[in-house]
Amino acid sequence: MPKIRVALIGVGNCASAIVQGIQYYRNIDEEREAIGLRHLYLGGYHPRDIEVVCAFDVEAGKVGRDLSEAIFSPPNNARRFAEVPKLNVKVLRGPLMDGISETLRGEVEIDDSEEVDVAQSLKESEAEIAINLLPSGSTEAPKRYAEESLRAGCAFINATPTRIASDPSWIRRFGEAGLPVIGDDLTDQVGATILHKTLLKMLSERGIHVSETYQLDVGGGTESLDTLERARDVKRRIKTESVRAVLPYEASIIAGSTDYVDFLGNRRDSYFWLRGLYFGGTPLYLDIKLSTFDAPNAGSVMMDVIRATKIALERGDSGHILPISAYAFKRPVKIIPPDEADRLFEEYIKWG
Ligand SMILES: NC(=O)c1ccc[n+]([C@@H]2O[C@H](COP(=O)([O-])OP(=O)(O)OC[C@H]3O[C@@H](n4cnc5c(N)ncnc54)[C@H](O)[C@@H]3O)[C@@H](O)[C@H]2O)c1
Repeated sequence: MPKIRVALIGVGNCASAIVQGIQYYRNIDEEREAIGLRHLYLGGYHPRDIEVVCAFDVEAGKVGRDLSEAIFSPPNNARRFAEVPKLNVKVLRGPLMDGISETLRGEVEIDDSEEVDVAQSLKESEAEIAINLLPSGSTEAPKRYAEESLRAGCAFINATPTRIASDPSWIRRFGEAGLPVIGDDLTDQVGATILHKTLLKMLSERGIHVSETYQLDVGGGTESLDTLERARDVKRRIKTESVRAVLPYEASIIAGSTDYVDFLGNRRDSYFWLRGLYFGGTPLYLDIKLSTFDAPNAGSVMMDVIRATKIALERGDSGHILPISAYAFKRPVKIIPPDEADRLFEEYIKWG
């Protein structure tokens, strides 16, 4: 298979999981040995076919270093699960804009070298897909990188809640350029939102009327701090809308990140509660806690999205690709129930 040449915008914890994941699964050839991956092969592509050829960041500890070292540089605190050899990809100084919040500016050192020409760097590296992994609260910087990706002729995957892949004007512009734009706000492999949706769907299909439910979580790491400071409301809106879409009736629903607990590191604890009525109006209560690590939770979904985007590029599909966005993101242009979104995705990979 040809290589899938990707650029990472933001070398934080999520980027660390992607880079480690490519190494971790590199020598596995049997589906049954690919523990933790949904697809070892997707449309013929293996995770080892993904090659990171370019990366941007703004932190002094990351810029100028080889990507294999930068992914382990603090404040990154993702679990180390793979040895990463030298990749010969130097992290480039991107435009800062609103990438780092006021609070984080006190904790991380911004690199003082001059910013590179992003589009030029993308072109020189022959990247074909750019992946936006900037902090949740950054809204202007992702637009700048989307602009640069258009200039460079790269497809764009937006893992953040900033509206790009679900925004009509960006969809039109990427469509006109003949490039896919995929997003917004990545869904975790086993995160609070998918678990909440699955629970509610199962209960409502079995005749239970859920009247009230909440899903709240706490996490450590810079992403949780940034969300608390700048993206709490937008995250809560996206998650709540996504969860609400699975119930065929009105219910009181709250879903969203609540707080930052520094000593949790890259861990996330998610709490679910619901009240429902079953046969004879009898009440039931459900109370669950899910504990995960944040970064690897993005890995399997990202491996699928990257390979699916390559397939879209090969087919000449452009603009918002609903089967990919609905499968892997919380805010596609249209929210589709998870099992239907899975079916659409598999069909798209097989038939287009
Ligand atoms: N499980 C997951 O990890 C997951 C799931 C869903 C969505 N996401 C989204 O992915 C994004 C990244 O998450 P993360 O945990 O890796 O965050 P992170 O805070 O660990 O990493 C963000 C990186 O972006 C860099 N950065 C900031 N401004 C920049 C700029 N202007 N140019 C280049 N680099 C810049 C930071 O220095 C940092 O290295 C977030 O928006 C998050 O909401 C992640």
